[in-house]
This record gives sequence, C-alpha cells and structure tokens, in this order.
Amino acid sequence: MACLVGMYDAWREWWNPKSIRKSPWQSHKPNCHDLYYDNFLIQQSKGQKYKAQLAKARQMMRQKIADISCGPIFIRLAWHDSGTYDKNNEGKGSWPCAGGALGSIRFDKEITAGPNAGLAKALKYYEPIKAACPALSWADLIQMGSAEAIEAMGGPKIPMRYGRCDADKSPDLSVAPFGLPDALPPFGGGPSCANSPAAHLRYVFYKYGMNDQEIVALSGAHTVGRAFKDRSGAVPYGYSNATAYTAKGCPFAMTSQTNGGQSWTKEWLKFDNSYFVMPMQGEADKECIAFPTDKVLTTDPGFKPTFQKYARDQNAFFSEYAMAHKKLSELGTKFDSEVDCDGSSF
Ligand code: HEM
Repeated sequence: MACLVGMYDAWREWWNPKSIRKSPWQSHKPNCHDLYYDNFLIQQSKGQKYKAQLAKARQMMRQKIADISCGPIFIRLAWHDSGTYDKNNEGKGSWPCAGGALGSIRFDKEITAGPNAGLAKALKYYEPIKAACPALSWADLIQMGSAEAIEAMGGPKIPMRYGRCDADKSPDLSVAPFGLPDALPPFGGGPSCANSPAAHLRYVFYKYGMNDQEIVALSGAHTVGRAFKDRSGAVPYGYSNATAYTAKGCPFAMTSQTNGGQSWTKEWLKFDNSYFVMPMQGEADKECIAFPTDKVLTTDPGFKPTFQKYARDQNAFFSEYAMAHKKLSELGTKFDSEVDCDGSSF
C-alpha cells in the first residue's frame, strides 16, 4: 500500500503540483486529491478499523436477509452459539471454559452435533461476509446477524455490544447436547425434567442466570421461523412437504429459498407478538406447531402472566425481548478492550 501511495504521489506531483501539500508558508487549499491521499495515509486504530468493518458487515447481512429470507436461521445459529453457556462451569478452567457466545459453533464438535442439525448452512452464508470483514470475530458476526435479522423482520432494535473474542476451539466442558433444550420428551436435565417441559425449560435457562420472564420473552423468537423433519425431526413437515404457509413461493415464504417445514405462526417472517396470541396458533391451526415447551408457557403459574402480558402488549414484549436477547448474546463473552463498542456507535 505504501508503495502505491508513493507512486500516486509522484504522479500527482507531475500532473498537478498544486495538489501536493506544501510547507506551512505556502498557501494550499485541500482538494479532492488531498482527500484521496489522506484516506490512504490515515492510520486507523484497531477499534476504528473494527467499527468500519462492523458497519460493512451489517450492510452485507441486511442484503442477505432481504435477498433470501435467512433471518430465522441467523437467529437460531446465534442462540445455539450462546446457549452452550453454563454458569456452573465458570472457574473450572480458563476462559472460555463455561461456553457461550464464543463463535465456537463453527467447530466440527458443535456444528455437526444433533441439536445443530441444519445450521451449517447459516455458517456458509457468513463466509463471504467474514472474507470481506476479516477483522471481525466470528462470535460478533454470528450475534450481529441475529440482532439484524430481528430488526429487519420488524422486531425491536437490540442494544448490542461488539468486540467479542473468539474461542480457538469448542470448550472441553461443552458436551453435546450442550444443555440446549429439547422440543419433545423425554426432556434433558435429569429425572425431574424428563416428563416436565416447565422443569426442563428452567433447567436450561437457569444455568444462563435467567428467570421465568426471560424464558417467556426468548421463546417469543418462535414468532418467526420453521422446524423441519429433516433437521430436528420434531415435526412431520420437511423439505419435501410444506404446510399452507411454508411452501416456496407462497406469500408467507417471501424470498426464502428453502421449501417446507412447519412454522409456529402464519406470518413466520414477521417478528411480532403473534406467537403469544391465544389460543396459540399451533392449537388453533394444525398447519402450525406448538411444542410442549411452547404450550407450557400458557399454563405454568411462573410463565403464564408474562405470556398473557405479551399477548396484550407488543411493546412490552419488544422491550423485554430486547433486554433478554442482549443478555443471551453476551453469555460467557470476553470483550477485546481495544475494540469494545456499542452497536449504535458505528
Ligand atoms: C425454549 C426452548 C426452545 C426449544 C425447545 C426450541 C426448539 C426449536 C426447534 C425444535 C426448532 C426447529 C429446528 C429445525 O427443525 O430446523 C427451533 C427453531 C427455531 N428456534 Fe427454537 N427452541 C427454543 C428456544 C429458542 C430461543 C431462545 C430462540 C431465540 C432466541 C429460538 C429461536 C428459534 C428460531 C428463530 C427457529 C427457526 C429457525 C429456522 O427457521 O431455520 N428458539 N427451535
């Protein structure tokens, strides 16, 4: 680059000597040549360079989401990266022993495991973005894609923070199924959870340091997206058989390139509070899903009041969802002090 700037400078001196910066006693107004030259010479700090690439990545992600409706899979990828976190493993080794939003889902041990079936595709979508923005960590890219997807689909702006460090391997203490939730029984978390979706949800989310209200808020992410027989196997619909709402080309599929699956809501590319409208769409309309872990939110005394509040008040859902999502996106995270920044500062 220095060589290019030198050659450009020599050419400028020959072509337009006035554009070369003169000594202080010779008057010289900056012109477009100077601006161009200065752009080459600016020494960006690590933080400035990082912010510039965050802005570029944001724009590329927005384009991808608009082009192929990959918002839901971006959200799920980020949640499954964060969701390996277990506060009980803190202090059992050096960072990142407790798991979390570390970008470790890109390693074979995680991406090829059962709970992550289907998510390798989402990582592929990020490859050109990572290549264009090499300074960014995988952990940040994955979390940014999720926050951007929610906003792009009509949901709240998440008050994100960036500068996550990447893990260089999946932590030894993270073992499949990584403490991630099951949709159908028998549920993980020991004998008391096996047949209890409520106990299972608390087993999963309490190890993140979350409470019942946060469980309900985050479950509301199922207002978007689909489940596939060919991925989780939790529903009878897959790539080759769609519901009335998930066929490629139908109005609810918008620009999605993937056929089929079964959604929780009719308009499964719109982030709103329709997941909470009673009766749940999966109970009222057999084209939609309601897993036991969804239905229990409408009956368990710890979950029900929040569920009802979100059904009445989309603003309450959006603001509490945004806070819970931010917390999810920072589980187990170590921020690089040189690039640490909030999402509204670039
Ligand atoms: C509460 C317990 C949860 C259970 C039991 C659960 C279960 C599932 C299952 C079985 C699927 C279908 C996967 C497939 O077949 O491709 C799925 C999809 C999805 N989940 Fe969850 N999930 C839970 C929590 C969450 C949370 C906390 C989030 C985000 C904050 C989330 C976001 C999503 C999204 C967006 C999809 C759709 C992905 C797509 O369309 O490709 N889920 N979930």
